[in-house]
Amino acid sequence: MLRSALIAASRSATCRTLVEGTPVVRPIVDRFVAGPEIDDAVRVAKDLDGLLVSLDHLGEATLDRAHAEHTVEAYRLALRTLGEQGLAGRAEVSLKLSSLGQALPVDGEKIALDAARRICEAATAVGTTVTVDMEDHTTVDATLSTVRSLRADFPGTGTVLQAYLKRTEADCGDFAGPGSRIRLCKGAYDEPASVAYRDKTEVDAAYVRCLKILMRGKGYPMVATHDPRLIEIARMLAGQADRTAGDYEFQMLYGVRPDEQRALAERGLRMRVYLPYGTEWYPYFMRRLGERPANLAFFLRALAR
Ligand code: FDA
Repeated sequence: MLRSALIAASRSATCRTLVEGTPVVRPIVDRFVAGPEIDDAVRVAKDLDGLLVSLDHLGEATLDRAHAEHTVEAYRLALRTLGEQGLAGRAEVSLKLSSLGQALPVDGEKIALDAARRICEAATAVGTTVTVDMEDHTTVDATLSTVRSLRADFPGTGTVLQAYLKRTEADCGDFAGPGSRIRLCKGAYDEPASVAYRDKTEVDAAYVRCLKILMRGKGYPMVATHDPRLIEIARMLAGQADRTAGDYEFQMLYGVRPDEQRALAERGLRMRVYLPYGTEWYPYFMRRLGERPANLAFFLRALAR
């Protein structure tokens, strides 16, 4: 219930004004977000030496074409900067199609595809890749279709599958082919029981079933979880599938279990940190609060102060 309430709050303009206008919240946001500018993200990426990185320019669901264009320019700047700073070898970018206009009422999918294509071109120019995030379940078909189109020209384009969706085992089968980069996460939105498992045990079991398909497949699984049990299971399944440490990677969010991120990298495993930056941190931040009651308690204490 708590998680549902926070996800609902992430869409409320009133809550957004309250939270964004409260300076004491800032240090908590800074735990999860590199800062407002690309230079902040680059500084943090350099500090994360020894770890791989995926930069996310924060922003979601826009119905404003100019805003979508602004997002494309932000990604192009980010990719140029990664190239100039010599970081493109260990840093890629993650993007949300909704921030590129996917939900625009006329030609939204086409506009988002064209925008994503230009970002993929910029990524290819500096020698790195793009991963397309997954949003709520109503967008999955459109997102997977866009990813298929992108992969025709940019085969390294990755995407995300969410284990909590009942359809995802089948999607894992479809996307486990040669060259595919699939990030498997549990899922961060508040989905109805008609399409998603809502019980933690069921989500975890579905995650393991999906992992089995991806590890046995021919693609490159990206295991995005902070859950220690699932990390151990992923390592075991990788071994059973004769995968070496270079044949898959772990991913975690910036600010979540940072010691474990380092520990896995020190054990010779590939670890990528999802590193958000930008000014539109509110919805991302609220989803992170909803994932752990302790985060919310800390946040409420700061707000009360
Ligand atoms: P779970 O929530 O069970 O957490 C396991 C443990 O990890 C917790 O007990 C706690 O110790 C720690 N933990 C988890 N979240 C925490 C937090 N916010 N603060 C502090 N501790 C925390 N989702 C989505 O729908 N679409 C997407 O595109 C992505 N992309 C994505 C990329 C990457 C790299 C990651 C790691 C995650 C995503 N997600 C996502 C989010 C994902 O769906 C999920 O909501 C979170 O990763 C939390 O799930 P866990 O697998 O960590 O398990």
